[in-house]
Amino acid sequence: MPENLPGAVSPADITTTRAWSALLARPTPPSLRRLFDADAERAERFTFTAADLRVDCSKTHLDDGTLGALLDVARTAGVEQRRDAMFAGERINVTEDRPVLHVALRAPIGTSIAVDGRDVVPDVHGVLDRMAAFADRVRDATFGGARITDVVNIGIGGSDLGPAMATQALAAFAHPRIRSHFVSNVDGADIHRTLSGLDPATTLFVVASKTFTTIETITNATTARGWLVDALGVDAVADHFVAVSTNAEEVAAFGIDTDAMFGFWDWVGGRYSVGSAIGLTLMIAIGPDRFRELLVGMRAVDEHFLGAPLESNVPVLMGMLGVWYADVHGHDTKAVLPYAQELARFPAYLQQLDMESNGKSVRLDGGPVGTSTGPIVWGEPGTNGQHAFYQLLHQGTRIVPVDFIGVARPNHPHQHHHDLLMANLFAQAEALAFGRENPDEPYRHFDGDRPSTMVLLEQLTPSTLGQLIALYEHVVFVQGAVWGINSFDQWGVELGKELAGRIVPELTGSGDEPGDPARPGRHDGSTDALIAWYRERR
Ligand code: F6P
Repeated sequence: MPENLPGAVSPADITTTRAWSALLARPTPPSLRRLFDADAERAERFTFTAADLRVDCSKTHLDDGTLGALLDVARTAGVEQRRDAMFAGERINVTEDRPVLHVALRAPIGTSIAVDGRDVVPDVHGVLDRMAAFADRVRDATFGGARITDVVNIGIGGSDLGPAMATQALAAFAHPRIRSHFVSNVDGADIHRTLSGLDPATTLFVVASKTFTTIETITNATTARGWLVDALGVDAVADHFVAVSTNAEEVAAFGIDTDAMFGFWDWVGGRYSVGSAIGLTLMIAIGPDRFRELLVGMRAVDEHFLGAPLESNVPVLMGMLGVWYADVHGHDTKAVLPYAQELARFPAYLQQLDMESNGKSVRLDGGPVGTSTGPIVWGEPGTNGQHAFYQLLHQGTRIVPVDFIGVARPNHPHQHHHDLLMANLFAQAEALAFGRENPDEPYRHFDGDRPSTMVLLEQLTPSTLGQLIALYEHVVFVQGAVWGINSFDQWGVELGKELAGRIVPELTGSGDEPGDPARPGRHDGSTDALIAWYRERR
């Protein structure tokens, strides 16, 4: 790796190092059954804490030797140096020449993080204060003479998934009058269904887009604006639209006053932005104090990631376990199974966080990665998943490492339901790990020996949700550092966007003129035929 890369101390390719060879040379681990039989203290020894999170890694195949080998890999890859470079505001996102400072969003007043010589912590708190004043107004005051009952967040990707996931997760803390809606898809069905239940006079739109050029968001926002103006006239836009963006020019060009804009910075990646102004809809729902608790929770895990020794550093341990299962064992998917209905969108949120970050095949120095990178992340809440895909988890030919997430005390009064839920959670991890012999009826035989990690929370609160988010952000970070990739760009989404932009006029034009983009023969035979099929029917 060239020396001028910020935070770079690792060699070009981790798979060429002695630490990697030592990891590969480790003997095949004993079964989980044998690991537990050999060590009465195993559960205790491999259960760790990060802030209030309890993380039981004992039902993975970790032992002291493998743990040591994995941590050698982490050290060789320079995980700690890259972490420190991120927290120090170095420009570790080299392809976009930016720092990566979502951790600054939760830095308390009094700390200082400099970008180009400027301390950004006061800026962060300045925006938080403006957001808080606005959120309080929406919650308590009237807008154009009416109280807001519905807030519609229009955004996509990181400008949707984080706030949508968190707003659902924290529904128990939401203002009783305010309903939150999230419109993301360019499919008109999304905005159509959302608007059809709403009263323009009591609806607030939050247009959330880092760039303010994303076609889905601008299309949905334009439709929403037309709906509002038809009902209340153009003057109502000022009371019913706010923007969250880094791009004041585009916000103004869209027709939202920049006084009604909440800013953030290019050093906040979209999928890392829920703690920024992108969380405005969430803040309106749960209130500024609760939103600050979310940030405090995130910060607690940031401090753990920064300060805990690698041997008990939970993001490092979970990240390295993921590297081991993916690259040494060849398990290329990972299931995230929250036993909390409120975390139903957490797997979808993690898909973007992990797969957009680490779905890369080129290293920071431009060379090819020597092993597989980010896993395919998927999941559904328990117990629903049990009645859908757990058959494959228990008896399929593929091994799928699982992250279970569970909560001790629910945010609802139905204790019996919760006892059943938790019994299922613990039973599933036990069944995966230890299986059941049945030589007479092979179809009833469970091999077991299927690894899982159990993440437990006392209660799902803004603070513990913040901890969970920061935990996974740092797991993704650790893995990206080991693979030597840039986890903070997303060039892979560009080609499809560009081609879609070319195809739009081909669907709608007449195709009669020689220069008309709708004339056939511009693509491969298949794409031309698809376009022709659609043109005949639209
Ligand atoms: O999917 C690509 C992407 O750039 C994401 O990284 C981002 O979260 C999303 O689009 C939305 O971008 P914006 O916030 O600029 O509208």
